[in-house]
Amino acid sequence: MQIPLLDLSAQYAAIREAVDEAVARVVASQRFVLGEEVEALEAALAERIGVRHAIGCSSGTDALWLILKALDLGADDEVIVPAFTFFATAGAVWNAGLRPVFCDVDPATFNVTVETLERAAGPRTRAVIAVHLFGQMAPMEDVVAWARERGVAVIEDAAQAIDAERTPAGGGAPLRAGAAGDAGAFSFFPTKNLGGFGDGGLVTTDDDVLAERVRKLRVHGGKQMYHHEMVGTNARLDALQAAVLRAKLPHLDAWTAARRAHAAIYDRALADVPEVLPPAVLPGNTHVYNQYTLRARRRDELRTALEAAGIGTGVYYPAPLHLQPCFAALGQGRGSLPAAEALCAEVLSLPVYPELGGGRAERVAEAIRAFYG
Ligand SMILES: Cc1ncc(COP(=O)(O)O)c(C=O)c1O
Repeated sequence: MQIPLLDLSAQYAAIREAVDEAVARVVASQRFVLGEEVEALEAALAERIGVRHAIGCSSGTDALWLILKALDLGADDEVIVPAFTFFATAGAVWNAGLRPVFCDVDPATFNVTVETLERAAGPRTRAVIAVHLFGQMAPMEDVVAWARERGVAVIEDAAQAIDAERTPAGGGAPLRAGAAGDAGAFSFFPTKNLGGFGDGGLVTTDDDVLAERVRKLRVHGGKQMYHHEMVGTNARLDALQAAVLRAKLPHLDAWTAARRAHAAIYDRALADVPEVLPPAVLPGNTHVYNQYTLRARRRDELRTALEAAGIGTGVYYPAPLHLQPCFAALGQGRGSLPAAEALCAEVLSLPVYPELGGGRAERVAEAIRAFYG
């Protein structure tokens, strides 16, 4: 039996009728960009995430860019970004005309902490991007308190973390990914927990002024056609994507529960294997497992053995961002962010998609146990 890292065909087979109907509805309307479908999705997601504004856009990358442009920071102002994340987190900062400053991460949770942010902060720090990597929220109550003290904006990169929650360490109402900072960015790339049939993204915020600026920037910087207050871009969401996402949304709770159940199987089955470290979940966090990523000794050999057994895996991410050639001029060299650098040699993501039933997760765990003997 082949066990792929992700099986989107299995998901489509289960919801085909509803999705096909949604697509047909848009085709019949011949309204393909923004419009009612996008507005309906925005309203549903604003309510679900718990924010005043949810603004559909063309990708998670563009969601980050729109937020950064809307913050209206100065040229070369600094934005702290974790070195261990997908490239887009830092690429958006650069493309917004700002300077990424890379910080390290907690090697157990893969996320930023106040300590790692503090070490990267300087007089030109104007914003931080807290990534909720793999589907687990960063300790946002601490991050926000730290940022408020310094007058720094907090952007959440929630691309992998729709529906993730966190009860703050001191108690209180749960924080939801995308509603805990000044603005949140989501991705609807097909591999995400809520994925479209192409690219798509979302900006969330409670800030009316920021929301208005994002809405303008999404359509070339003007509310009125052919009148431009800012230089924006074309970052609109397609109606087809919105319709597909709306058809999928009623299933998201069950899909997330299934991901969490598969993760629990791995956690249990691998707990006594000293060569692997399952992902740590901070107390109070509800992890939504866009990826189930563990740390493994002899990672590359393990990966090859699993592949030979028909099991797909992924390495997210093989290189930290401060060591990417395009950021070499920023001068953060090898050895400067040791946790991020070490993780890149150790991490391995296992199949955790919702349709991974029928004993498949147990088989993956068994293959890992067999590899280490
Ligand atoms: C952490 C993170 N940030 C940003 C993005 C960018 O999202 P998109 O691919 O929709 O542009 C992704 C998507 O892969 C991501 O995983």
